[in-house]
Amino acid sequence: MNGVYQPSEDTFLLIDTVKDMPYVRKAVEVGSGSGLVSVALTQKSEYLVSTDIDLNSCYATLEWLHKYNKRANTDVVCCDLLSPFREGSGFDLIVFNPPYLPDECLRDVSIFGGEHGVDISLKFLQQACRMLSCSGKILLVISSVSDLKRLWDVASKLELDHKTLKSVSLFFEEISVVEFRKKHINKKVSGRN
Ligand SMILES: C[S@@+](CC[C@H](N)C(=O)[O-])C[C@H]1O[C@@H](n2cnc3c(N)ncnc32)[C@H](O)[C@@H]1O
Repeated sequence: MNGVYQPSEDTFLLIDTVKDMPYVRKAVEVGSGSGLVSVALTQKSEYLVSTDIDLNSCYATLEWLHKYNKRANTDVVCCDLLSPFREGSGFDLIVFNPPYLPDECLRDVSIFGGEHGVDISLKFLQQACRMLSCSGKILLVISSVSDLKRLWDVASKLELDHKTLKSVSLFFEEISVVEFRKKHINKKVSGRN
């Protein structure tokens, strides 16, 4: 492990997006790092679980939640993605700013997302869509430097619709926050109109 990820442009873009989301019952942040996004999520959810594979990041998240008096309705779990949660957990909002730079060796779990950059994100998406409530939403940070075609292919196989909510151009990449939702929900909603 290489230490706690320092809040950066991607962190702040995700916080801005979370601020625009409606209030939900159950939320989970995967890869909470410093805990800043989790603090923002406590304003938007009745109950929040934060997870990170890095123990120091879990302690950092706990510290921020304590500091903001948010421990009464939050839990922090050190684990790989969403592995402790059962299928059908019914999360209304699942959020992840993943490691997304392409690298085969995964030298630093906070920034390298595997050979194609999206490898961790693909595994995440597969788990997340099984734990999403019917009308739930997934927010995922993506970068133009990773192989996004793989991500859209997997999302389509999982029958997830996606739309970009916010983007920012940096000097070598564009980062965006993408919202994923189960397709059949959109059909039902549009059927009613
Ligand atoms: C880009 S950082 C984002 C941190 C924080 N959410 C933020 O926005 O500043 C990615 C985080 O994901 C965590 N991470 C990487 N692989 C993970 C996995 N398989 N399961 C859970 N967390 C993971 C890293 O330890 C790191 O804290």
